[in-house]
Amino acid sequence: MSEHIDILAIESSCDETAAAVVRDGREILSNEIYTQIAMHTVYGGVVPELASRKHIEKINFVIQKALEDAGKTLEDIDAVAVTCGPGLVGALLVGVAEAKAIAWAAKKPLIGVHHIEGHISANYIEHPDLKPPYLGLIVSGGHTHLVIVKDWAEFEILGRTVDDAAGEAFDKVARAIGLGYPGGPKIDKIAKEGNPDAITFPKAKVNGSEYDFSFSGIKSAVLNYLNHAEMMHETVNPADLAASFQKAVVDVLCEHTVRAAKAHNITNVAMAGGVSANSALRAGMEKACKDAGLNLSVPSPIYCTDNAAMIGVAAFHEFEKGYRSGWDLNAVPNLKLGEHL
Ligand code: KG4
Ligand code: ZN
Repeated sequence: MSEHIDILAIESSCDETAAAVVRDGREILSNEIYTQIAMHTVYGGVVPELASRKHIEKINFVIQKALEDAGKTLEDIDAVAVTCGPGLVGALLVGVAEAKAIAWAAKKPLIGVHHIEGHISANYIEHPDLKPPYLGLIVSGGHTHLVIVKDWAEFEILGRTVDDAAGEAFDKVARAIGLGYPGGPKIDKIAKEGNPDAITFPKAKVNGSEYDFSFSGIKSAVLNYLNHAEMMHETVNPADLAASFQKAVVDVLCEHTVRAAKAHNITNVAMAGGVSANSALRAGMEKACKDAGLNLSVPSPIYCTDNAAMIGVAAFHEFEKGYRSGWDLNAVPNLKLGEHL
């Protein structure tokens, strides 16, 4: 019997069908991702029903490929992990049902993983020395959370968005300036040609709350700016607008993170989630942390957006702590961070 713990992980919470085999929570033996982006682009965003159907169509192939790439069979696997929430319920259900069937048939333990715990755990892949306690900023299409990772698989939430997630704001602003879906990478690209100080947008802060975020105000400010320009027959430079919007988002994310780290005497910071692939955010957070004497970890872009490797890494720590899911594991679209099913 191998002295390693090899986990087969499955992720299907949104528009990526993914499977990976992860060794000892650090080594990625395979990482297979089938992205549905092209299909959803036609509709300008993710269509939940279509996402579920596509997951069903692709999931067996993706899992098979992940096992093959890792040179493993189900016999060699020590546990099966799956994202059980939060996310689109129909999409989650495909992964959960599949993981249950595989684990049951192969007589392996089953581990349900929280999607955000997966995102933050992506940092351990390339920063194997990172360990709790540290401060985590998770910015994705569905979530914006500032948390203290108190211990493996244990979290204290300091702040979160009170309305849109950061990625959602990127996607909506991109649509408004005609860049299409998904907006984040497109804004990132076009903003490189623009002046971030061209337009001043409001900061995405929440009055009376130290660490919460609000991104719907800044999104509305961008829409108002565009409407006003149209009424006045003024031309808008999309690159300046993208760069200015991006700066407003990056500034507030950096400010909150550094302030929280100082207030809680934490020196290690980790960023995660699709928006942490953003080049301006990576550069801005790098500088803000350096200036404040903080160490920053960020995953490579491939581990920032949805993937199953991060789920396998999170599952390893759950496994080590003795967490196992029952055969009644269900998809929970609004699963709370730190809740173990
Ligand atoms: O983590 P993720 O793949 O899925 C969720 O868990 O939501 O994040 C997807 C989000 C989308 O909103 C996408 O526009 C955004 O991440 N994103 C980016 C970049 N790459 C992806 N946002 C800004 N800049 C990027 N380079
Ligand atoms: Zn995600």
